[in-house]
Amino acid sequence: KRVAILISGGGSNMVSLVDSMTGDHPARPCLVLSNNADAGGLAKAADRGIATAVVDHRPFGGDRAAFEAELCKPLLEAQPDIVCLAGFMRVLTGDFVSRFQGRMLNIHPSLLPKYKGLNTHARAIAAGDAEHGCTVHEVTAALDDGPILGQARVPVEPGDTPDSLARKVLAWEHKLYPAVLERFARGDRAPVLLP
Ligand code: GRF
Repeated sequence: KRVAILISGGGSNMVSLVDSMTGDHPARPCLVLSNNADAGGLAKAADRGIATAVVDHRPFGGDRAAFEAELCKPLLEAQPDIVCLAGFMRVLTGDFVSRFQGRMLNIHPSLLPKYKGLNTHARAIAAGDAEHGCTVHEVTAALDDGPILGQARVPVEPGDTPDSLARKVLAWEHKLYPAVLERFARGDRAPVLLP
């Protein structure tokens, strides 16, 4: 299976996914695509010999359809079987998502359906939650929605700040996403529940 990975920043999730696709793993990375030319993940992908591309969203202003029409070009050229959003920070329209429906995954730093959107760690702390975590889900037109394919839970400890909690969650994202991708690439939709 060919896997394209979309990033916007450091790409730590992309690195975890790429480094997991070895040996008898049914998938291999075919493209790392970013909306941000300065994304640190682009160099990490290139260091791993993976094709990269950049489609900057800024020239398109609020015209999401025009941006996505450009974004589609390198993506379709790479002929991915699976598309992984990994720290990709642009909201995608239903039209774009529908082209990859059923084979586009995303990782979100909360225990969905709680805390869709941004600032998830601060919201969990503010709510006094004892548990927080991350979720991998199939991408549908609705933001941070779609069938859940895996979750990892972390305890919220006294004294946790949004930063300390984000670090704990990110470490589990790096375990969860590769585990979900391996299953998904084998056609297994049973949810991965960690730890
Ligand atoms: C992190 O906040 C992570 O929780 C979310 O995307 C952000 C950047 O991740 N999934 P990455 O290091 O670019 O993968």
